[in-house]
Amino acid sequence: MDAEEKALKKLEQRLYRYIKEYKFRRKDIDEREVEEEVFDENTLKTLYELSNEGIIAELYGVVAAGKESRVYGGVTEDGEPIAIKIFLITTAEFRKGRMKYILGDPRFEEVGRSIHKIIYLWAQKEYRNLKAAYEAGVYVPRPIAFKNNILVMEFIGDEFQPAPTLKEYKRITPHMLYQILRQIYLLYNKAELIHTDLSEYNIFYYKRKPIIFDFGQAVSIKHPMAETFLTRDISNILNFFRNRGIDISLTVEDVLEYIKG
Ligand SMILES: Nc1ncnc2c1ncn2[C@@H]1O[C@H](COP(=O)(O)OP(=O)(O)O)[C@@H](O)[C@H]1O
Ligand SMILES: [Mg+2]
Repeated sequence: MDAEEKALKKLEQRLYRYIKEYKFRRKDIDEREVEEEVFDENTLKTLYELSNEGIIAELYGVVAAGKESRVYGGVTEDGEPIAIKIFLITTAEFRKGRMKYILGDPRFEEVGRSIHKIIYLWAQKEYRNLKAAYEAGVYVPRPIAFKNNILVMEFIGDEFQPAPTLKEYKRITPHMLYQILRQIYLLYNKAELIHTDLSEYNIFYYKRKPIIFDFGQAVSIKHPMAETFLTRDISNILNFFRNRGIDISLTVEDVLEYIKG
């Protein structure tokens, strides 16, 4: 076995050990579904490819499991901690609907393929949005790579414990609000993007900086609904601070004026 094969073997063992542990923990739900939810064949293949490219050298456990994605910790070949966001192709949610009758029926292979394509587009879109934001100087996890339904980015946190989100953060200060509004300003004016799902759940506070993440649904400032989205993002943030007892005289209009100039 050459070095490359060995590395692959190692990754594979880790993956399967992980799948086993994962199943064990979630015995309550249908095993078949779990298996598919974690790593379907395409996802495994994509993980192998990313490992061949040295982007994923090691994959650790899941750090977060959402409805549409799972986020894992890992390291690159250079030892850099990474977050690996895997967009799920057949989630339970998805299967609840009629899709379960279509996926797996060979007559509808085309549908299956286009679903894959749509999900691949999500990973690509999130990567591109992150890249634009990163290059504009917004505090975001540095994007590293994407392939098919997998997005790889800088890990925010210590020892594979994600940094606290704003929601989880204890000491909320007015300064944090100004820092966040500055990020929205940069995102809008330099990256020309609106997050559209901005809230205390999608902002880490780490090393005294607000780090915005989860950019899959971000849109261009030229989107027909741009104003609505921006207004909603701003209100979410102002409401959060208000609810945490930060006395803000700022209105949404004030912030809109600051951002749009
Ligand atoms: N770059 C990252 N570093 C560390 N943890 C991350 C990173 N990105 C996401 N996570 C973890 O995964 C969770 C979900 O990520 P998110 O991108 O918001 O996915 P979803 O689309 O499911 O909301 C986060 O709350 C966080 O715990
Ligand atoms: Mg999120």
